[in-house]
Amino acid sequence: MKIFIDSADIGQIQEAFSWGIVDGITTNPSLIKKAYEKVKASGENISMHDYLCQILETAGDAPVSLEVIGTSEREMTSEGRYLYDTFNKVASNVVVKIPISPSLEANSDHRYDGLKAIRTLSSAGIPINCTLIFTAEQAWAAAKAGAAFVSPFAGRIDDLLRKNMGGAFDKTEYFPAEGLRNSDGAPRIDDNGVHSGVHLVEQCVDIFQTFDFDCEVLAASLRNPRQVRECALVGADVATIPFAVIRDIVDHPKTVEGMNTFCADVVPEYRALFDS
Ligand code: E4P
Repeated sequence: MKIFIDSADIGQIQEAFSWGIVDGITTNPSLIKKAYEKVKASGENISMHDYLCQILETAGDAPVSLEVIGTSEREMTSEGRYLYDTFNKVASNVVVKIPISPSLEANSDHRYDGLKAIRTLSSAGIPINCTLIFTAEQAWAAAKAGAAFVSPFAGRIDDLLRKNMGGAFDKTEYFPAEGLRNSDGAPRIDDNGVHSGVHLVEQCVDIFQTFDFDCEVLAASLRNPRQVRECALVGADVATIPFAVIRDIVDHPKTVEGMNTFCADVVPEYRALFDS
């Protein structure tokens, strides 16, 4: 499974790439807002164009998803072309992110515009990451329209299930891949047959493998390392992971304990080997 960093923060991106485990970057308007406001608050004066170029250059040949902001086929198609024409020449690594349905209200005339934009842009050779996927059938439709990646939002499904259960919750906390179960093993809650975010990812992977779709399942909206592991176990092609979660991947108290013992046990003769 490839690892992408889900961030537009240049410091985080540079740091994560230095660890040698990052294969790409995903951004969205909210991540760009957070990162760019931080840059401005630090007093740095850099244009959005130049800021995005820095991200693309840091990625090298790793793919970077940049999202459109329009809510109609016409806007998204023209923005997708603009993003690709303007930024792909920097490092040949732009993937245009299109929502599966851009409509801001149910039953709007625009709800199929995501599919139309995916079809138009992918036919023009522009790689597409279809975002805001919450069902396997949305993923399937996006793949059929020509998306190169689909992004099921695992964490947001878990948030929805926990919210529907009632009560407060911490969205970074682990939510079981098998979902919440009653004592008889029956699901306590689901969203249209989806028991957890990882279950959604698994459904997308199963369908894509069964029908041999040429489209990668990019597990998104991930909240903790265990969820990342479970996405790998169900066969996700990619996991896009926030910086804080990538950072936590190497942590285990027994690793620290082991290091303390190894360091305490170094005999002078062994240390001397490294002194020359
Ligand atoms: C990635 O492409 C998504 O935009 C992102 O993973 C969303 O994550 P969030 O649900 O934590 O905002």
